[in-house]
Amino acid sequence: MVIEMSKIYEKLEVCMKSIRAKTDFKPEVAMILGSGLGDYADGIKIEQTVDYTEIEGFPTSTVAGHKGRFVFGFVKEVPVVIMQGRVHFYEGYPMSDVVLPTRLMGLMGAKKLILTNAAGGMNPDYKPGDFMLITDHITTGVPSPLIGANPEELGVRFPDMSEVYSLRMRGIIKEEAGKLGIHLQEGVYVQLTGPAYETPAEIRMCRGWGGDAVGMSTACEAMAARHMGTEVCGISCITNLAAGLSSVKLDHKEVQETADRVAEQFKELITAVVERI
Ligand code: HPA
Repeated sequence: MVIEMSKIYEKLEVCMKSIRAKTDFKPEVAMILGSGLGDYADGIKIEQTVDYTEIEGFPTSTVAGHKGRFVFGFVKEVPVVIMQGRVHFYEGYPMSDVVLPTRLMGLMGAKKLILTNAAGGMNPDYKPGDFMLITDHITTGVPSPLIGANPEELGVRFPDMSEVYSLRMRGIIKEEAGKLGIHLQEGVYVQLTGPAYETPAEIRMCRGWGGDAVGMSTACEAMAARHMGTEVCGISCITNLAAGLSSVKLDHKEVQETADRVAEQFKELITAVVERI
């Protein structure tokens, strides 16, 4: 089914109107924070929150442990909007809905986006608890969020993706991690649909593709953001070794526990980075 340009943009306009009726906050930096950072927003200087359910036409998150709201506020002096709870493709939404919040935050004024996630480590040098600066991604495993009639108001039909993750921002993140004594891996993130974890054969395939970490989010949001000219950076928390790389079975509890264990360090890094990007 072809989604007409007007449908995507019209839907965004409906959501925008709904949000703007509640707040005129103008964020500079948007953040979509994954497992372990769910409560980061609770610690900032909150100006206002808007529940996803209050926004007309907004896809509502169903994953346990994820709150569903936008938090508007300040990290130090920087006006930010944080998505507390993201929308995943495996929940059953079309890709255009999965990236709708990303686009919405861009339209609200955020020209910079920080993405984080929990991911399985495929690179044999990685261990649970590591952070990986995302240098590039592979989205071959999921439909492109840009499929369908192109919303010209947002960006061009054939957007360049040769530097999805800003070299400038990556430099800052590396510097700040260094100052905090945080060891940063760097690598390529592969997005698959989930919700099942991968098979060992799928992991060997993704490794063969050139991937270092695997997960179920992020790359689609990065693409939608780049399409509309937003500057993007991303950090994965390696919560587990990917399937087949260890003898333990994968389980969401392990993912959550590792993410929670390193959450404080992750938060420090994010705070240090926001100020400088
Ligand atoms: N695979 C996919 N998604 C994930 C993983 C994984 O091993 N760990 C955390 N999110």
